[in-house]
Amino acid sequence: MDRPYTILSCAVSLDGYIDDASPDRLRLSSDEDFDEVDALRAECDAILVGAGTVRKDNPRLLVRSPARRERRLAAGRTGDLVKAVLSESGKLDPGARFFVTGDAEKVVYTGASAYPAAEQRFLGAPGTSVVDAGDPPALGAILDDLARRGVRRLLVEGGTHVHTLFLTSGLADELRLAVAPFFVGDATAPRFTGPGVFPDGPGTPMRLEEVRRLGEIAVMRYRSERAAALAGGLGADGDDGAFDAPAPGADR
Ligand SMILES: NC(=O)c1ccc[n+]([C@@H]2O[C@H](COP(=O)([O-])OP(=O)(O)OC[C@H]3O[C@@H](n4cnc5c(N)ncnc54)[C@H](OP(=O)(O)O)[C@@H]3O)[C@@H](O)[C@H]2O)c1
Repeated sequence: MDRPYTILSCAVSLDGYIDDASPDRLRLSSDEDFDEVDALRAECDAILVGAGTVRKDNPRLLVRSPARRERRLAAGRTGDLVKAVLSESGKLDPGARFFVTGDAEKVVYTGASAYPAAEQRFLGAPGTSVVDAGDPPALGAILDDLARRGVRRLLVEGGTHVHTLFLTSGLADELRLAVAPFFVGDATAPRFTGPGVFPDGPGTPMRLEEVRRLGEIAVMRYRSERAAALAGGLGADGDDGAFDAPAPGADR
């Protein structure tokens, strides 16, 4: 079974930070940008984040636009996307908004040793499955599991560790970056990616597919050369519906 076509989406500062070091989430996006990301979500089957993002931001990760939800429901889909979280430790709060919002299933991918305790923790959580993804958890196996759940198009929304994992594993097909017009400048704040060996290095750079202005935000869309070589396959036709007409957006 084919792995899902995987799109990474991230908002960054001019100096590459994705948050500041304060307890509150730094707003790097605009309403217009949030709305485009909402449109992108509506075109996907699942959304994936890391446990760090769930703990820090407590996001809902829903499709916000009623019109987009209607279109999904009319097409026989759920209004929201399947939500997946990578948590090697399995130490997540089943009461977090990630788990208690949305009309689609939620999946927690843990490490093998953490699996029994995590399964116990989520026993009473409706619509949530806990999956043993091995020790250490293998991203390829996680994507295969999502594919078996019918996920053909996956949106990854952070944070640093998860973006780094996808990019260093060569498992990101596409990248959507929204660049905010300011600096953060705090070395203790999280960046888009950490150190690693990236297949999309200087010798095999990503292909810049699109650059657009959204008010003061610059939106860039890249595709890995590997994905570009598969043009004609799922989502590789340059028209992924990600940039549909915007409507007023909300927080994530
Ligand atoms: N600007 C943006 O667009 C944006 C979007 C999202 C997030 N963010 C920011 O990103 C920051 C969080 O980033 P982060 O790096 O701390 O956290 P993260 O990438 O969201 O999550 C890291 C966690 O993922 C789990 N993990 C990592 N590799 C794994 C693997 N192979 N298998 C299973 N689980 C694995 C571990 O969870 P356990 O600890 O449970 O083992 C790890 O602690 C926050 O400040 C947030 O605001 C920004």
